[in-house]
Parts: sequence; structure tokens; C-alpha cells
Amino acid sequence: MKVDVLVGMQWGDEGKGKIVDFLTPHYDVIARFQGGPNAGHTLEFDGCKHVLHTIPSGIFHPATTNVIGNGVIIDPVVFRREIEALKKRDLHPEENLLISKRAHLILPSHLLLDAVLERSKGDAKIGSTLKGIGPAYTDKISRNGIRVGDISNASFMNRYDENKRHHIQIASIYCDHPLNTLLHEKSFDEYEKQWIEALEVLKMYRFIDSEYYINQCLKSGKRILAEGAQGTLLDVDFGSYPYVTSSNTITAGVCSGLGVAPKSIGKVFGVFKAYCTRVGSGPFPTELPDKTGEYLRDHGHEYGSTTGRPRRCGWLDLPALKYAIMLNGISHLLMMKADVLNELPEIKLCTSYKTGDELSDQLTFEALEQKITPTYKSFKGWRTSLDGLIQYDQLPNALKTYVGYIEEECGVRIALISTGPDRNKTIVRGLLP
Ligand code: IMP
Repeated sequence: MKVDVLVGMQWGDEGKGKIVDFLTPHYDVIARFQGGPNAGHTLEFDGCKHVLHTIPSGIFHPATTNVIGNGVIIDPVVFRREIEALKKRDLHPEENLLISKRAHLILPSHLLLDAVLERSKGDAKIGSTLKGIGPAYTDKISRNGIRVGDISNASFMNRYDENKRHHIQIASIYCDHPLNTLLHEKSFDEYEKQWIEALEVLKMYRFIDSEYYINQCLKSGKRILAEGAQGTLLDVDFGSYPYVTSSNTITAGVCSGLGVAPKSIGKVFGVFKAYCTRVGSGPFPTELPDKTGEYLRDHGHEYGSTTGRPRRCGWLDLPALKYAIMLNGISHLLMMKADVLNELPEIKLCTSYKTGDELSDQLTFEALEQKITPTYKSFKGWRTSLDGLIQYDQLPNALKTYVGYIEEECGVRIALISTGPDRNKTIVRGLLP
């Protein structure tokens, strides 16, 4: 067997949670391989909305095993909150959730550093979710991190204290009284107390060597889906650096974030919105700082599911989509939120970028550094509701033209079109998994 992969192709918030939940009945295992509580995967079904940050989106299916892989970073406070919300829905995550011993912990002092360092950047700030992501991955790479498997060691609290002391020292370079910085509306001491209590909840879960578990599952014929967080354009290597997150969000991240060999990667599902959004700072060539942008924000409810921040909105960017197809090896395109465009008389699609007199359809280093002007192709809007449509053939012709053009340009089939947040509002074209 191979591991199928689902990744975001834009700047995150593409609707990955809905799709993982939709695909989960076809899989035995859903595994997260990178990111942490900066993610917010929203699922809607039976009239309820649920947001997951750390826990894989297969958790609502009791027969599916959910794995938090070694590439993920965990804040016990956020984890506990997620578990409590699941329990309120009569779910028993202790029965189908496994956690890698190699996953790193986000400490309260990582949140503190995130806040202090971001503030010190002034106008050049990244727009981080301030969940401690950058500092926790920094400690991982600089070999100072503390992992889930360390929790049961006698020296755990000593190591915690040592790391905290070191972080506060660094933070003091940037501000006089770092411990006065509020962490998500709480004082440092309050957050630390909650964090230590939340460790007890984390400890109730099964810590595993997830690389052995996943590879064993593959050998025994189990079907695995790796669930990406954030999106390709936030990848630390290939995104719009430095306005990126601190992990590899692309398919390659599955190999290091779960311990899977490249030859074991199977289908790669690329999720993208019928338009584009971005939350936080950084380049966004097709951004619409106008009424159409506001329309997309209002109709698409484009507010961050982790931070509540309004998202920047713009037209779909084909060169960026092609870049994401190339980097991830996308085999199936999944188009989300087509319904948000329902009322627009005209829909535009960026087909290339103009720098000076030159046209290009590549998202090169320079394209991400300097001001580029998108060139657009215009499409007629369909101006009708997509409610109740369950087959591709029933879609309005104008939408089929839009879909067909993207497919032809990208050379990859759009295998699924989502027409609303609910599980039921999903049009599938042929076999997916
Ligand atoms: P960080 O990963 O929280 O440090 O944030 C770095 C950048 O990535 C910021 O621009 C965030 O807004 C963005 N970001 C991080 N996680 C997500 C996500 O799950 N969806 C959308 N944007 C994200």
C-alpha cells in the first residue's frame, strides 16, 4: 500500500478539514505530518461546525485511527481544549488517537518568544498566529526541543525549566519585562499552570513510535491518508519567505513528518479555493483590496478559524496553482467554495505575471520578492445557486467552462467540486481514493 496525501495549494484555509472528513470513510488511518495549533481545520455536518487544530480530521469516525506524527508540534493547552470539545460531542478520542513520541512540545515560553519577536519586527511582522510555532520549530532544528516521549522522563521538569530560562533570556534582549507579555489574554504564570495541568490530559493518550506504526500499517494493507496543514505558499522552503510558516507543508513533508519513504507516496490530492485568500503579511499578487475582495470575504466567511482575523481575498492565481502542482506532484485537484462566486457577473483568473515588459507564469524567487502585476483572463459568472446540485453535469455551463480552463492549463483533472461547507455539498467526478 501507499500513503495518499492531501495538501493545501494556496496560503492555507483551502478547506482541507472538510475534505479529509469527507474522504475518511475510505481510509483506516488519518495522519497529520506537520504544523501545529496554527492550523484550524473546520468540519461541518449534521448542522454543527467543529474546528480542529492539532488533532487529525478523521477523529469523528470512530473506526478510523488518527495519528499525530513526529513532524507536528503540540501545545498541551490547545490539545486539551480540543479533546474537551470532542468529548462534549460524546466522542472517545482516547480510543482512536495515537501520538508520536517524537512530536515536539510547544512550551509557554515559545508563545512568549513568538509574541516578543513578532512585536520586535514592527512593520515587517510575519502576521504569525502567535501559537509558538516558529520558536518551537527553531528549538527542534537547533536540537534544544522537548518531545512528547520526554514527558515521562524524571528530568522532564528540569529540562522544561532550563528551556524556559533560556527563552526568557532571549526575550529580554527585545523587551524589558518579557514576562508581562500576555499569552492569548493570560499572564505567563496562568498559561504555564494550565500547560502543566494539560500535560496530564496529554499523558492519557497512547504515545507511539509512529514511523513503525505507519510502516506496519502499510505492510498490512491499511489505507493511510496524510493530512497537510497550512498551504504550499506558506512552505518554509518554497513559500513567500519570510512570510511563511516554519514547516514543510508540501508532500515532501510527509516523508520526514511521518517516516515514510518517497516510494510509498501514492495519490496526492491538492485542495484549492475557486479564488484565493491569505491571512497575515506577505506578497499576494491577485489580492483585491476593493469591493470584490469584500464580497469574497463576506460571502466566503473569510475570517481565520484560529485567530478570527479577516482574510485578504483575491482572484485565483494559475501560475501559483501550477507551482503547487509541480512541488507536490498533485494527481487530483479538489476545488473548494465554488458557491462563493455564485453572484459575481464576472470572474477573473490570473494567467501570468508581468514584470516590466516581461510576461511569465513562474512563481520565481524574484516574482515573490518584487512587485508583479497579474494579467487576467475573464470568465462569465454563472449567477445562480448551486444548492441541490449533486452531479457535475448539473452544474451551470459557465462554471464548467471555468473548471475546464483550469484543468486544461494545469493538466490535472478537477476531481471534486465543493459547493458549500456541509459534507453533503460535494460533487465528485469519478473515483477519488
Ligand atoms: P505561524 O505559522 O503561526 O508562525 O504563522 C506564519 C504565517 O502563516 C502567518 O502569515 C500566518 O497567518 C500563516 N498561517 C499559519 N498557519 C496558517 C493556517 O493554518 N492557515 C492560514 N494561514 C496560516
